[in-house]
Amino acid sequence: MSESQTTAPIRWGIAGPGRMATEIVPEFHLAGNAELVAVGSRSAERAEVFATKHGIPRWHSSYEALVEDPAVEAIYIATPHPQHTDIALAAIAAGKAVLVEKAFTATVADTERIAEAARQAGVFAMEAMWTRFNPAAAHLREVIARGEIGELRGCQGDLTAFREFDAEDRLFDPAKGGGAVLDLGVYVISFAQHFLGTPDVVRAVGGRYPSGVEGEFSLLLGYGDGRSASLAGAFTAYGPGRMMLNGTRGWIDVHARFHRAASVTIWREKTPEHLEFDSGYRYEIEHVGECLAAGLTESPIMPLDDTVAVQRIMAEVLDQI
Ligand SMILES: NC(=O)c1ccc[n+]([C@@H]2O[C@H](COP(=O)([O-])OP(=O)(O)OC[C@H]3O[C@@H](n4cnc5c(N)ncnc54)[C@H](OP(=O)(O)O)[C@@H]3O)[C@@H](O)[C@H]2O)c1
Repeated sequence: MSESQTTAPIRWGIAGPGRMATEIVPEFHLAGNAELVAVGSRSAERAEVFATKHGIPRWHSSYEALVEDPAVEAIYIATPHPQHTDIALAAIAAGKAVLVEKAFTATVADTERIAEAARQAGVFAMEAMWTRFNPAAAHLREVIARGEIGELRGCQGDLTAFREFDAEDRLFDPAKGGGAVLDLGVYVISFAQHFLGTPDVVRAVGGRYPSGVEGEFSLLLGYGDGRSASLAGAFTAYGPGRMMLNGTRGWIDVHARFHRAASVTIWREKTPEHLEFDSGYRYEIEHVGECLAAGLTESPIMPLDDTVAVQRIMAEVLDQI
């Protein structure tokens, strides 16, 4: 897809002025085809404070008002996962494109509802799995497609991020979709699903906090032709966040932390090539703008079928834990 510099920038609204929204605002300004025009919150005060701090011209005291704002063309949803669904469905019903934070929803049924609504309405919807849009990931797709490490047979990796237990934090609260699988597992599973496809077998173990959400997991994805992925993640421990892709003629180290993919080493048989890359959220934002300019209703890199597949794997992992 080509750059959409010649078309007008997409006018974005942010739903959920929390931690992630604060982090992503500068990336909307860096993206070449985006304009941040509005923010919505459950509170007029929080919306106004956020808008004033970040120079956003319009603010709304409800998510409904944000969705109905005629100045907004696309909505970036950054509430806790269970609260993505109602906002996404309302936005789609209003004809607005949605970029929905990972994990897309807290349940498979909610993901399927959003996918079906978007397809029926012909409205663009995509999971904000920014790892797939970072330049390193784009480069790896080309290296692998050219067969430079042979046939891909598997991957191994973790995303481990120690967090002190805090019952108030969404990460540990079942009502807010807490737990390491939806927060960290989504990255390792989506990575494996992207490069290897949807697995035939899922095997998982893990442990839970007294609040009921899981703090650690380890899982194996199996494919009928013998390929496999061995993945792990935890809030309960420290770890690097590395990923390795194994091929019949070489392998690729995606260095820590792999989900932002700032550097990789490509081993063609035994010869290493070290490469460094820029990374950030602007690439997924630009990709949405390019899709909209091209009249697409789904991303070819993060299609809704992949999101549904990843959600199903996460549900299976949670069942087994
Ligand atoms: N891509 C990444 O690197 C990345 C990193 C971190 C998080 N995330 C994702 O971004 C999303 C938000 O994470 P976060 O850490 O930013 O969350 P957060 O700060 O806990 O919450 C974000 C906002 O959601 C709004 N909200 C709406 N309904 C809510 C409810 N019932 N309970 C609590 N808040 C509610 C709140 O705004 P108002 O009260 O003002 O309405 C809150 O400020 C999650 O899906 C997360 O997985 C992605």
